[in-house]
Amino acid sequence: MTSMLDDPIAFLRDERWTVGILGLGYVGLPIAVAAARKGLAVVGFDVAARVVDGLTAGRSHVGDVDDDALGAALDAGMTVTGDPAALADADVLLVCVPSPLGRNRQPDTSYIEAAADTVASVARPGQVVALESTTYPGSTEDAFVPAVERAGLTLDEDVWVAFSPERVDPGNQLGPSDIPKVVGGVTPRSGEVAAAAYGRLVSKVHVVSSARAAELTKLLENTYRAVNIALVNELAQLAHELDIDIWEVIEAAATKPFGFQAFAPGPGVGGHCIPLDPQYLAWRARELKFPTRFIDLAQSVNEHMPIYVVDRLTQLLNDRGLPLRGTRILALGIAYKRDVADDRESPALDVLRLLALRGADIGVLDPHVPTDRIAQHGYVAVGGDDPLADWDLALVLTDHTAVDYARVAGEVGLVFDTRDAYRTRGLAGDAVVAL
Ligand SMILES: NC(=O)c1ccc[n+]([C@@H]2O[C@H](COP(=O)([O-])OP(=O)(O)OC[C@H]3O[C@@H](n4cnc5c(N)ncnc54)[C@H](O)[C@@H]3O)[C@@H](O)[C@H]2O)c1
Repeated sequence: MTSMLDDPIAFLRDERWTVGILGLGYVGLPIAVAAARKGLAVVGFDVAARVVDGLTAGRSHVGDVDDDALGAALDAGMTVTGDPAALADADVLLVCVPSPLGRNRQPDTSYIEAAADTVASVARPGQVVALESTTYPGSTEDAFVPAVERAGLTLDEDVWVAFSPERVDPGNQLGPSDIPKVVGGVTPRSGEVAAAAYGRLVSKVHVVSSARAAELTKLLENTYRAVNIALVNELAQLAHELDIDIWEVIEAAATKPFGFQAFAPGPGVGGHCIPLDPQYLAWRARELKFPTRFIDLAQSVNEHMPIYVVDRLTQLLNDRGLPLRGTRILALGIAYKRDVADDRESPALDVLRLLALRGADIGVLDPHVPTDRIAQHGYVAVGGDDPLADWDLALVLTDHTAVDYARVAGEVGLVFDTRDAYRTRGLAGDAVVAL
């Protein structure tokens, strides 16, 4: 039997090893469950007692992991703990903690730094440390190399440090094991060893020359999305002025078998990646006095979309002799995207806040977001079977699958659809106005 110190690549390829996961949220929990399914030993660590208690009791708080899958992982021996000391058993440590923006839209790396302190306190000879949290180029090296050195370890002799961006897409059928993983070590040797670990977790590993290249890969992917969404958002506004249906145009352009990827306009961008990740890159560029014009422009166009939606809706009501104040608006969906319960950074919340400020009465029908969460935002939660005739207008902000769109249009009588939910279902008609 090989050991991590004698031959880490053979050990990680051939033996049953232990993976320790720091942070059991949307990213960490699916990885933990997938690793347990692959027969690895798993130790999950989270600082939030609520998360640890819920998972230990078999209750998943992440939409993509159902209680049965969690139960199977726990039955297979996965442990969930709030005690970082348990991570000392792990041969591979995967760091999946949040990387939000601070008050002035600068990167908040405090969670990554706290995780690095935890790593420093548990690191021992024979461990791989890989950061998965999205962050700017240089972060892995800056935070984790000093951490393992503080633990008295020598890089590439008894510890290997890498970055591997998480690409999981909540609500997508593809789980963490199905999505190719980019891996870059802070040194080439660290990259090779980390790639051997990921080779057991995912179907395909793509190794790049450095952690910094892997960090920038993730930021390129999400900046590309932000910029292209901004492009169609701007064109949607122009197409409206030209009296052309933007959705028809995008569908037509998408018939080109090369050189065009379809992106959809909408009420803005949301979630915890597209609005945030480009800002990590822009912040690092600002330090170098390098202008990031595409990022800045995309942000400005995307952030304007809630205002544009409210303007269009106001015009729609005006055309029918209705004031916005006092109008009863039923929002379909507040989650940031289809078929998820996550409303973090959702542009729907910006739209509804603006409508409420202008005096509209708002109800929300969202089959995924819990009713108490809707109430926390200050809106009336409407059930899927509730009568709808009292509402003056339905506003599609998230195109969840589990909504009876035909019934909504029939009972409410007027719909403003920012997601093309009606036309794609063959339900376009006089009652429906598209973005
Ligand atoms: N959610 C996504 O779709 C997605 C996709 C790709 C990448 N990412 C990136 O992955 C990272 C994690 O995102 P997420 O959505 O899983 O966040 P999350 O908020 O759902 O989960 C993070 C978890 O980490 C825990 N935590 C915080 N500090 C900790 C610490 N010091 N030690 C241990 N646990 C700690 C929190 O309690 C929480 O349970 C972020 O960098 C994010 O940008 C997220």
